[in-house]
Amino acid sequence: MQKPKTCILGGTGFVGRNMTSALLAQGHEVSILTRHRERNRDLLVFPSVRVIESDVYSTDELTTRFRGMDAVVNLVGILNQTRYGHENFEDTHVELPKNVAEAVAQSGVPRLLHMSASNADPNGPSLYLQSKGRAEELIHEHALKHGYDATSFRPSVIFGPTDSFTNRFASLLRDIPFFFPLACPESQLQPVYVDDVVTCFVNAIKNKRTFGKRYDLCGPNVYTLYEIVDYIARTMGVKRKIIKLTEWQSKLQASTLQWFPGKPFTPDNFQSLQVASVCEKPFPEVFNITPRTMEEIVPKYLKKQPTKLDAFRRQIRS
Ligand SMILES: NC(=O)c1ccc[n+]([C@@H]2O[C@H](COP(=O)([O-])OP(=O)(O)OC[C@H]3O[C@@H](n4cnc5c(N)ncnc54)[C@H](OP(=O)(O)O)[C@@H]3O)[C@@H](O)[C@H]2O)c1
Repeated sequence: MQKPKTCILGGTGFVGRNMTSALLAQGHEVSILTRHRERNRDLLVFPSVRVIESDVYSTDELTTRFRGMDAVVNLVGILNQTRYGHENFEDTHVELPKNVAEAVAQSGVPRLLHMSASNADPNGPSLYLQSKGRAEELIHEHALKHGYDATSFRPSVIFGPTDSFTNRFASLLRDIPFFFPLACPESQLQPVYVDDVVTCFVNAIKNKRTFGKRYDLCGPNVYTLYEIVDYIARTMGVKRKIIKLTEWQSKLQASTLQWFPGKPFTPDNFQSLQVASVCEKPFPEVFNITPRTMEEIVPKYLKKQPTKLDAFRRQIRS
């Protein structure tokens, strides 16, 4: 029997790499389109994975790449804009999905799975959420008009061993001594485990009940950002006084940190955090899984930091 063929855009990222493993486990052949093949050579160790350097903004090139695929998965996304190339919300979140949708229609691929985000809404409070919302609308309209089946996923923040959420806070907590100033401490989040997210995508490919649908994806528990950062500190055994910044202090932090390398926090991130990233409904039954909690997973990869006493003992032993 022929293996199902799936093409992923954004397959080199955090979710994409987990998605690739899940698809391989289900016997798929995976083609990953990337802007930088050389940087992602490690993915070539899998015999059923092809990593193809592509102009992912060219509809013609996408159409060629998509021919013969059973499904296309678009995971491309950014949290912050820069002044370089396509690194802006309009190109990355709207233009690229539009080209992907067009190429799916032109190449005759029957199935498109699209990664959106919790609270994505053309009228949302941030440019990130607005652009994600516009993409979702245009994809589902386009799919109806052109006769292929689209499904969108709207996860809250996603956690897992190589995420840039829990790991980012973990490294900040390690690096900043004594006091940790936290913006938007009361923002509500319902983190979802990356394996649960990718299981939904993989299950949805063939499941007709998911065709044309949009799914909010959340873990079992709602936390404030303060509770999450406090939990991360406790899991690592790091003692820091977490200072809850007020609204104006959070805005000030965002206006300052947006100029730091890697843009750790921006005014647009601040706006996104003004709406609770939580799900009204329980995890979609159609996927038949029980989502995992942070408490079940995070201690497996955020290890306890050695205390000064541990370091002293090690020194004596060596
Ligand atoms: N992580 C979360 O907590 C979370 C929560 C909700 C929604 N999401 C959404 O889930 C998706 C995947 O997230 P992730 O955490 O896996 O992201 P990620 O690790 O940053 O990976 C995103 C991938 O997209 C590609 N990409 C990035 N910027 C691009 C651009 N300007 N143009 C074209 N391609 C670009 C990159 O692939 P190449 O460099 O190989 O081309 C990159 O590997 C995104 O759409 C994100 O918005 C994530």
